[in-house]
Amino acid sequence: MAEHDPAAVRADFPLLHSRRDTLTFLDNAASSQKPAAVIDRMNRYYRCEHANIHRGLYALSEQATQSYENARTSVAKFIGAEDPCEVIFTRGCTEAINLVARTWGEQHLTATSEVVLSIGEHHANIVPWQILAQKIGFTLHFVPLGEGGTVDEQALYARLNERTALVALFHVSNVLGSVNPLEKLIPEIKRYGARVLVDGAQGVVHLPVNVLGMGADFYVFSSHKMCGPTGLGVLWGKQDILRSLPPFHGGGDMIETVTTQGFTTADLPHRLEAGTPPIAEVLGLEAAVQYLSGWSRLRALQHERSLGSYLKKALDSFKHIRSWPRLPQNSEEEAQWVGIVSFHHQKIHAHDLACFADSKGVAVRAGHHCAMPLHNYLKVTSTLRVSPYIYNTRKDIDKLIEALREAEKIFL
Ligand code: ALA
Repeated sequence: MAEHDPAAVRADFPLLHSRRDTLTFLDNAASSQKPAAVIDRMNRYYRCEHANIHRGLYALSEQATQSYENARTSVAKFIGAEDPCEVIFTRGCTEAINLVARTWGEQHLTATSEVVLSIGEHHANIVPWQILAQKIGFTLHFVPLGEGGTVDEQALYARLNERTALVALFHVSNVLGSVNPLEKLIPEIKRYGARVLVDGAQGVVHLPVNVLGMGADFYVFSSHKMCGPTGLGVLWGKQDILRSLPPFHGGGDMIETVTTQGFTTADLPHRLEAGTPPIAEVLGLEAAVQYLSGWSRLRALQHERSLGSYLKKALDSFKHIRSWPRLPQNSEEEAQWVGIVSFHHQKIHAHDLACFADSKGVAVRAGHHCAMPLHNYLKVTSTLRVSPYIYNTRKDIDKLIEALREAEKIFL
């Protein structure tokens, strides 16, 4: 099997190959760079194809509508959905989770309900549930993680009971890169009749996703972490559940009729997409999906993992650095990691290290990465996170390590 070729990928990303300085971009978990195919698709729409959709009785609008709905079909296929109407476009992964909380959550959760999350969730999969818990009074439980950074299975199972209404878990941790074994966890959760929401913000970026096979009720993700534009996310849900949800936002497109007395709602997917949607972004996401489908995702994943392992081993030679997750101990653990590494320097603050690395042309994220409870759990206030993607190379990791060595000479 031919190896993944990061140089060929890099050539497709204008920001990476057109800069005179050699930017080493290792903050892909925050947002990936964009290939020309995505940028060009969005430009083409605004230059030649723009009209509002679902409204105009003229060819330009009808074509734009067709392109938008075709893009929905492409995204549905990419994640293995049964029907494109199960794909709801939102403003982002965060909005998708808020949508589920504000519609399904308000409809089904009561003061005696229990909602279970893991301690590894990022804020988008914590705060919407906290807001709702304040309002409704249900109990929110946080389950710890095991050594490899995936949810502690026994602790999760011990939390489940007949009051458990929802379990909301990351597919891939944005701090540790660990992959929850959802195919194993979900059937156990389902034995209690609980619904399952999977936060796929980092999952669909690295892993082939089949929402039907996974068995979840909701799967949510962002476009901008997987080569697509910002301001767009996806909520996938089971059709019967989505159809039973009360409206989220009210306005044009989500209605069938409106009178002074009230309104009736349109069918899926439009009933959950009020107002003019981000049309160019949806077309950009379709281009991203097509772009990613052009590479072997398995080989890309192996490449990302090998960069993570290479980094972990290099970090082990630093006396004052502690890094997460631990290196996979066996093939099962290896399959549960996408190569993201976070580390803490006992003597130099993460922000200082990140600024120093930036002065050497290396972009990494420093701080709590929108996952403060996880950092409290790891007993550190901040870490530096390195999130390799399809265009990164060992040279990028070497450059970071060199910057760390130089920083130590200056700061220690
Ligand atoms: N949750 C995003 C990250 O990991 C913003 O950087």
